[in-house]
Amino acid sequence: MPVNDFTTQLKNDNLQHLLTLQNLSLPWIERILDHASGFLDPITHRILKRPTLQNKIVFNLFFEPSTRTRTTFEIAAKHLWADVINFNIEASSQSKGETIRDMVANLSAMHGDLIVIRHRENGMPHFIAQHVSPSVHVINAGDGAHQHPTQGLLDLYTIRHFKKEFRGLRVAIVGDILHSRVARSLIDGLTTLGVKEIHVAGPKGLMPSDIGGWPVNAHTELSEAIDGVDVIVMLRIQQERMETGLIDSMESYRDSYCLTEARLKLANPDVIVMHPGPINREVEITSAVADGAQSVILKQVTFGIAVRMAIMDILVNGVK
Ligand code: NCD
Repeated sequence: MPVNDFTTQLKNDNLQHLLTLQNLSLPWIERILDHASGFLDPITHRILKRPTLQNKIVFNLFFEPSTRTRTTFEIAAKHLWADVINFNIEASSQSKGETIRDMVANLSAMHGDLIVIRHRENGMPHFIAQHVSPSVHVINAGDGAHQHPTQGLLDLYTIRHFKKEFRGLRVAIVGDILHSRVARSLIDGLTTLGVKEIHVAGPKGLMPSDIGGWPVNAHTELSEAIDGVDVIVMLRIQQERMETGLIDSMESYRDSYCLTEARLKLANPDVIVMHPGPINREVEITSAVADGAQSVILKQVTFGIAVRMAIMDILVNGVK
């Protein structure tokens, strides 16, 4: 699969698809974040509806389980007055052996305007973007362990909301870095925005073998990674992607990496704690921290709707 075909994403200086944050420029990121804030009431953070996708069709294609991402895409599309079609992939022709390419041809023939896709295979959204008709826009809602650009953008939105500036920030990302498309997209975005330091922490078995080439400081000790940081992003242990032997046991993982109230004290007093969900409570994060005063986990969910509205609006209608 063509995982890094950057030329597919931009067309004549317009954002045609959103497939990766790896090459998304600073002006594009800022444009999307600024546009997202226009969909949020500045005081109550209620979502402001706008009919900018009226008469447009959004296909939600989830080949992997998802609650938050699928639902917030649906809400976002409906707040823009689009018609949303959710595909239950198990029940669709995919289970009759229809190839992805035929499926895409059929979706184009149905005159869909936007395809939101999550797939276990790295690069599948790129592949689809290369085969849809020119009027169709594709959004990557998570491909394998590769990218999750809308999650990365909503994480950036949340950080900007609470911290205002990126330049002086120290950010720690903790857990299953190896399998995490969330970490990859976020690291790409944070690097483009010029944060001061990015630290990652996790057991050796869950660290990518090429981590030395990433723009991060890698640690196996949680305490080293979160010392004095402004933002902590905890990741889910992805049991469904795990080969046996990558970690010793869940107990030892919890003992070394679970974010507890005591460990949180190592970070800056005004640190914010984030998590893309779903949370394994008492494995990677205690309930006291997940539900505590520093946690902005539910804000991420709300902001995620505005960010997804902004992305869909910009892809379909361009930048005004
Ligand atoms: C993430 C995903 O699916 O990549 N979750 C999400 O989008 N809300 C992270 C995860 O599953 O751990």
